[in-house]
Amino acid sequence: MSYTFFLLLLSLVHSTFSSLAPTDRAALQSIRDSLTDMPGSAFFSSWDFTVPDPCSSFSGLTCSSRGRVTGLTLGPNLSGSLSPSISILTHLTQLILYPGSVTGPLPPRFDSLPLLRVISLTRNRLTGPIPVSFSSLSNLHTLDLSYNQLSGSLPPFLTTLPRLKVLVLASNHFSNNLKPVSSPLFHLDLKMNQISGQLPPAFPTTLRYLSLSGNSMQGTINAMEPLTELIYIDLSMNQFTGAIPSSLFSPTISTMFLQRNNFTSIATSNATSLLPEGSIVDLSHNSISGELTPALVGAEALFLNNNRLTGDIPEEYVKSLINGTTKQLFLQHNYFTRFPWNSGLQLPDSVSLCLSYNCMETDPVVGLSTCPIEVAPLLSRPASQCSRFYNHSSTG
Ligand SMILES: *[C@@H]1O[C@H](CO)[C@@H](O)[C@H](O)[C@H]1NC(C)=O
Ligand SMILES: *[C@@H]1O[C@H](CO)[C@@H](O)[C@H](O)[C@H]1NC(C)=O
Ligand SMILES: *[C@@H]1O[C@H](CO)[C@@H](O)[C@H](O)[C@H]1NC(C)=O
Ligand SMILES: *[C@@H]1O[C@H](CO)[C@@H](O)[C@H](O)[C@H]1NC(C)=O
Ligand SMILES: *[C@@H]1O[C@H](CO)[C@@H](O)[C@H](O)[C@H]1NC(C)=O
Repeated sequence: MSYTFFLLLLSLVHSTFSSLAPTDRAALQSIRDSLTDMPGSAFFSSWDFTVPDPCSSFSGLTCSSRGRVTGLTLGPNLSGSLSPSISILTHLTQLILYPGSVTGPLPPRFDSLPLLRVISLTRNRLTGPIPVSFSSLSNLHTLDLSYNQLSGSLPPFLTTLPRLKVLVLASNHFSNNLKPVSSPLFHLDLKMNQISGQLPPAFPTTLRYLSLSGNSMQGTINAMEPLTELIYIDLSMNQFTGAIPSSLFSPTISTMFLQRNNFTSIATSNATSLLPEGSIVDLSHNSISGELTPALVGAEALFLNNNRLTGDIPEEYVKSLINGTTKQLFLQHNYFTRFPWNSGLQLPDSVSLCLSYNCMETDPVVGLSTCPIEVAPLLSRPASQCSRFYNHSSTG
């Protein structure tokens, strides 16, 4: 390509772009003035307001052909605060702030930014509530405000935004209840907040990822419409009680964390195996009683320790360990009376099986059990806690 042709091309390309709109230039100046690079960071070194065309030289900036800012990506490693002038950038579709130490509230006026599709302001030190103006973000697809110090009630309008697919508010101080969810979400992560109350009666069937871990939610989980796309569910470390409904055991599930609640039973209908092979299921540290259903046999890792399970462990679990489907099986700290082990069998080396602190009369577990270090010394439960379970004609 000849040099003159290249110049011609360059001037053509250039002439199709107008220079940055004066309102947007003023907004960028205020945004710049309220933030600073932390020591060692040079994000703003390219932000020279004397150049004719910031759109082609400022890092983190994208503009439309009409000279309006459409994308703003700030940081990482900035401090200061977010200028309310962001709301002047009325053509903004994407607002991203990478991890840093930015403090202060969210800008209040999001109602002037109707084109926003992505807001991601994670791992900074933002405080205060989510402004009511977020309710007008009808094009919003992704909202990630995780790992800040935001607070206030979880706004009910967030989970009704008509195009919201990804909502991540993990690790903030949001309180109050989770209201009905009507957005077409596929990713909902509210872990590590102070959310209370019960689960909403339904979730969108589009949901693939749900985490509500480490909140203060309670009550029973009513049988909900099966979430046929669900891959990951984490309700651990709340105060849920009652039965774990069989609708949670979706055939698509790969990770199910329900540990450290107060669930009392597993409602498994008549299905034999509810779990796909390779799944990880943690139901430990609950109050689950009764006999163990064979329905969880497909899991690759199954944690049922620290419950009140009784009776014989179904043979299916032994088969599943031997044929390599199950690689980790933690049954310690229950009241099981028998592990159906035949001395001719051999466990694969990779298996981790823990049977300590149960009520097994004859003890096949010595030599089989490979418990985590903290439970190893407690081989069996004191006989006084077990006597009622030895009598098979009585359920105690
Ligand atoms: C940001 O800060 C972190 C922690 O000090 C550092 O590891 C990282 O390299 C910094 N990144 C940039 C782009 O300055
Ligand atoms: C767990 O639930 C049982 C029965 O509903 C109740 O008696 C018990 O107090 C609960 N435990 C905790 C720690 O909430
Ligand atoms: C459970 O049993 C009912 C009635 O016998 C039957 O209609 C249903 O399909 C069964 N469900 C499963 C998952 O096997
Ligand atoms: C392993 O054993 C379990 C329990 O009997 C069974 O459900 C599963 O289909 C078996 N898997 C293979 C690969 O043989
Ligand atoms: C076992 O159950 C039988 C019948 O219910 C009863 O007569 C007996 O006293 C029970 N024994 C113990 C040790 O609980």
